[in-house]
Amino acid sequence: MDVLGNKFAYIATYGCQMNSSDSERYAGQLEALGYHMTEDMDMADVILLNTCCVRETAEGKTLGKIGELKHYKERNPKLVIAITGCMAQEWQDRLFERAPHVDLVIGTHNIHKLTELLQVRQGKHALAADMSLPAFHDLPTKRFHKFFAWVPIMNGCNKYCTYCIVPHVRGREVSRPLQDIVAEVKALGRAGYKEITLLGQNVNSYGLDLKDGTDFSSLVDALEDAKGVERIRYMTSHPKDMTKKMIDAIARSTRVVHHLHLPVQSGSNATLKRMNRGYTVEHYLELVDYAREKMPDLVLTTDMIVGFPGETEEMFQETLALIQRVGYDMAYTFIYSPRTGTPAATWKDQIPQEEKSKRLKRLMDIQNEFSLALNKKMEQCVYSVIVEGPTKNDEHHWFGRTGGNKMIIWENDGSVSIGDTVSVAVDKGQTWVLKGHIVSQGG
Ligand code: SAH
Ligand code: SF4
Ligand code: F3S
Repeated sequence: MDVLGNKFAYIATYGCQMNSSDSERYAGQLEALGYHMTEDMDMADVILLNTCCVRETAEGKTLGKIGELKHYKERNPKLVIAITGCMAQEWQDRLFERAPHVDLVIGTHNIHKLTELLQVRQGKHALAADMSLPAFHDLPTKRFHKFFAWVPIMNGCNKYCTYCIVPHVRGREVSRPLQDIVAEVKALGRAGYKEITLLGQNVNSYGLDLKDGTDFSSLVDALEDAKGVERIRYMTSHPKDMTKKMIDAIARSTRVVHHLHLPVQSGSNATLKRMNRGYTVEHYLELVDYAREKMPDLVLTTDMIVGFPGETEEMFQETLALIQRVGYDMAYTFIYSPRTGTPAATWKDQIPQEEKSKRLKRLMDIQNEFSLALNKKMEQCVYSVIVEGPTKNDEHHWFGRTGGNKMIIWENDGSVSIGDTVSVAVDKGQTWVLKGHIVSQGG
């Protein structure tokens, strides 16, 4: 609180875009209660950590942060500490045992409870983690960006990959009605938002639970007349549920970007089977080839896990062969992390940490060569970019992204503003980023 009596709230978000989107609904509720957002934890009357538990590293980092909050509470006993999101859902009241200075623990289906808990709580621990409540609630939303917006289209996951905690902490798949999504995207377009990202753990199974024939391609088609929206992204696709019909819809859309993030996880059929992914390498490659045939400029990215239990050197080499066959623009690569409550964590044939680290390095070395080569191929070409603003470390260098989600940095001469769509020529392709210069205003 400041001298004028203004109340402040600090929010930190971990994990995926779904959490970032949920944070906007936490911020919306806090604003409706009269809080101002702050980036200064010392000023905050409410500190909210919206957490992730997908890997042990994510959880460890957050537990460390929760530990640090003890000092803030000692300095300001009126401070309310709220832990929300996937880790809150997983830990529930065990978080109070571990960190008694935490006041509120709010799970993934209870976002709307923040308002009530802040109003009625009287210094007691309060837990709201009932998964039987609906996943979506009509809540005030404070959008963190002016030109980019997240729009959840579904929540939860039915896939139960044997390594993954997400279905346990997000619950079963529930789709939002198509007309609600279309209305929200159109309203965002009218309000000046240029780029929308449709969110779901598995966007390709969107609509199947509505049982009225709606699927992801109907949604893509229905968004075609969202005026003002220049780009529509979607995250995350699943190779088992992505169909050629959906690829056709994306290819014919004038708004959906030609970027496909299609997590493969492994290039070994035996491993894919043990992961319960529900597709083969051959099926995956058929989808990739089809998507590239329909969209020759497609940017393709993926997620991969190394050191899954039982992964032999031969199986790992099949993954290396797959990245060479596909030639991804980028891959998010992870060391397998055993998660309590998932089947793979109980299996005996775990891979030693040292071997997992070595495999990760080998995989990244090959992937980095591809990323560099593909980014070099973009040199001298001109791309339409939406300006995001200064880079983190240098205010004279600004950045934006191409439709394919590649980051381009240029020296800012003050001629462009955040949110402008500009044409940028690429001068130098690097592994992680492109360097370029602005050619003209307008994409
Ligand atoms: N629903 C999305 C994303 C889920 S989490 C999908 O199915 O692709 C994002 C990524 O984290 C996954 O794609 C996977 O590569 C990785 N991941 C999930 N659980 C993991 C674990 N236990 N260990 C290591 N990586 C994991
Ligand atoms: Fe996890 Fe698999 Fe669901 Fe993705 S599809 S969220 S990896 S269980
Ligand atoms: Fe993490 Fe939950 Fe997303 S576990 S990856 S924040 S769905």
